[in-house]
Amino acid sequence: MSDAEAIVELIEGFQRFQTLVAAVRLGIFEGERPQAAELERLLEACASLGLLERRDTEYVNTTLSDKYLRGSSPLSLAGFVKFAGASLYPRWGELDEAVIEGTQRENPLSIRGTLRRGYRRLKGARARQDTNRDFNAGMHGLGMLSSPAVAAAFDLSGFRSCVDLGGATGHLALAIAERYPHMKIGVFELPHVIPISREYTFGKATLYPGDLLTDALPAADLYALGKVLHNKDESGCRLLLKRVYDALPELGALLVAERVLNDDRSGPAHVHMSSLNMLVATSGRERTFSEYRGLLLGVGFSDVRFKRTGCLVDAILATK
Ligand SMILES: C[S@@+](CC[C@H](N)C(=O)[O-])C[C@H]1O[C@@H](n2cnc3c(N)ncnc32)[C@H](O)[C@@H]1O
Repeated sequence: MSDAEAIVELIEGFQRFQTLVAAVRLGIFEGERPQAAELERLLEACASLGLLERRDTEYVNTTLSDKYLRGSSPLSLAGFVKFAGASLYPRWGELDEAVIEGTQRENPLSIRGTLRRGYRRLKGARARQDTNRDFNAGMHGLGMLSSPAVAAAFDLSGFRSCVDLGGATGHLALAIAERYPHMKIGVFELPHVIPISREYTFGKATLYPGDLLTDALPAADLYALGKVLHNKDESGCRLLLKRVYDALPELGALLVAERVLNDDRSGPAHVHMSSLNMLVATSGRERTFSEYRGLLLGVGFSDVRFKRTGCLVDAILATK
């Protein structure tokens, strides 16, 4: 095989991604087979990617797609696929401009983005609401892959209560409660996300609607912050971490769940990709452990420890 293979794979990566997006949007992994001029071509392509298998004259889910792409699977990543296709992919198309200007791109699903791009088929509020649901379903699917490992990264048995700040569907709080059943858990979220938190937590977590930047944080001796800091620039991180530090009792702690870059910035590649994702979609970035450590010590935390989990998301424990 030519040594250009790796480059061709990179070039054609978008085709595989969009095959996945189209199949999820058309409900293929839910067993739907809509009337479509070229459905067979899509099904064949999915089969070639290991997402469907042919049984007699029909295509059925493979074990992999049934586990991760069927919407009702507890480990489903279908919401993330939809969110990435609708909201992230168009912004990645402007990555070069984001790199030059150092700023995020317009959300294609916001009203401004919709008007600016002339996306007539997307109807403002409804599209945004669906995107919020898809985004949270997506975060949940990714969280289910890593939160049990984050909860297991440190001995948290000495803490009595944990509030997951910006906890969304509560996957991290639930993983902590699963491992430490004595712990009372809560999820603090923006009011519009709380109904989604309620759907996923089944009454197992106290839900606190509020704004992390302006409202008092509910009392707890352990806070969790999962993929919230990577949305923020340095001053935004400092502001939030100072509020968290001030709200903790002595010897209380903060568990940070983030993708973490190697200290020499040599990888992992998925964290660099995520950092570019943060560039096009937020004002944040992915960071090394040294950078997180600096931020945490800077607001007053005394002991900061790091554990690679072997999953997409790593764990940092900072003690007051
Ligand atoms: C990238 S998501 C991460 C969700 C979840 N922690 C996880 O690890 O999957 C960031 C979350 O922070 C929440 N959030 C952002 N700003 C917030 C604020 N000012 N107050 C409360 N929650 C906020 C968002 O609603 C969103 O659910």
